Amino acid sequence: MDSIVVTGGGPLSGQIPIAGAKNACLTLMPATLLSDAPLTLTNAPRLSDIRTMTTLLQSLGAEVQGLQDSQVLAMSSHSLTSTRAEYDIVRKMRASILVLGPLLARYGHAEVSLPGGCAIGARPVDLHLRALEALGAELDLREGYVHAKAPTGGLRGGVIEFPFVSVGATENALMAATLAKGTTVIKRAAREPEIVDLAQCLRKMGAQIEGEGTDTITIQGVDRLGGATHRVVTDRIELGTYMLAPAICGGEVECLGGTIALVSSFCEKLDAAGISVEETASGLKVARKNGRVGAVDVTTEPFPGFPTDLQAQMMALLCTAEGTSVLEEKIFENRFMHAPELMRMGARIEVHGGTATVTGVDKLKGAPVMATDLRASVSLILAGLAAEGETTVSRVYHLDRGYEHVVGKLSAVGAKIERVKDA
Ligand code: UD1
Repeated sequence: MDSIVVTGGGPLSGQIPIAGAKNACLTLMPATLLSDAPLTLTNAPRLSDIRTMTTLLQSLGAEVQGLQDSQVLAMSSHSLTSTRAEYDIVRKMRASILVLGPLLARYGHAEVSLPGGCAIGARPVDLHLRALEALGAELDLREGYVHAKAPTGGLRGGVIEFPFVSVGATENALMAATLAKGTTVIKRAAREPEIVDLAQCLRKMGAQIEGEGTDTITIQGVDRLGGATHRVVTDRIELGTYMLAPAICGGEVECLGGTIALVSSFCEKLDAAGISVEETASGLKVARKNGRVGAVDVTTEPFPGFPTDLQAQMMALLCTAEGTSVLEEKIFENRFMHAPELMRMGARIEVHGGTATVTGVDKLKGAPVMATDLRASVSLILAGLAAEGETTVSRVYHLDRGYEHVVGKLSAVGAKIERVKDA
């Protein structure tokens, strides 16, 4: 297992290219299962989660080609050999559940292992299942698998009203509805840019969809979908993460490919903390010119609210802010596992249930810390950039799931960071 060693310092300066969105790619890839024509994705990130989805699709008989260092994924599902997603792959990544809707819609049946527990809370898939039931599917949970069957003649359009917003369940429902007979209306749909990206790609494949980006999406089912080539939207979470680097240790960094629209509520909080963000022709320029950042309160919410996937990184910034900040986590329970690690670096944080109170200190101090999940691991790297001395972040395999070339991207703007092999 590798570690990342960061030596605090600054200021940073230069440009960081932002990759295509992991979470968009993880829902665009299963969309290949809806059609027998090729689907090609460009701007795909090179991440272990993408490799896991590749393995899953290949286990179903899909062809997925992506050269090691290429950002192009060429996929085809013209001759699937299986409609069963095995536990061994699904347990590695919850997003595997996204093959359920497409398989069911195209083949009329599918078996997908239940994903099981997850470090950041219970994260059930009941909303995914209820959505498919609303399209006429019969579901049976046996031996850890969802056995799903469409009625004779296939799924039929229906009204899906989610009790609260779920990104993944909206994606599963949207994909399934493209091939259902008649009209489907998804109410309280997620509005994330990844949903908009998925709808745009499905439309290129011939789907009839309206309302993506709002809380009501209407889909008119079609008999078959064709092929398409689609560029994956910019990763707003990677974008926000790297925007925090100059915010935390000073300087000016331009994040290439970023737009305010992808991270508007996050930008509002940066502004309140005293960080300037400017949209340029090529991306977002972020600068912390002088002085300590100010404390701000943050509540995570579905898009367009503040993203839960940036909460840990924002906490790293607020650890050295002037004053006290309150962070409320409203999407996932148990998503403050980075707090005790940040406290090992001298941060003052109190966690009560879904609320963390952070009282800024002058300086963090480098320490050995442990990554507990994807976003937590990068928050510790950001904190290390601002700390006095050396911070060693262990268990960085979490990081590889969601951030490509972290060391290269941060060193290019002047950070002292390296990856070392554990003895
Ligand atoms: C996606 C993102 C993840 C992000 C999250 C929230 C991917 C691959 N992952 O996850 O990075 O943190 O959105 O923005 O895109 N829930 C249920 N039942 C369900 C589904 C969800 O109770 O069937 C709950 C979850 O436990 C959570 C909340 O709903 O508390 C929102 O989760 P959801 O939006 O579904 O997250 P994911 O799609 O899993």
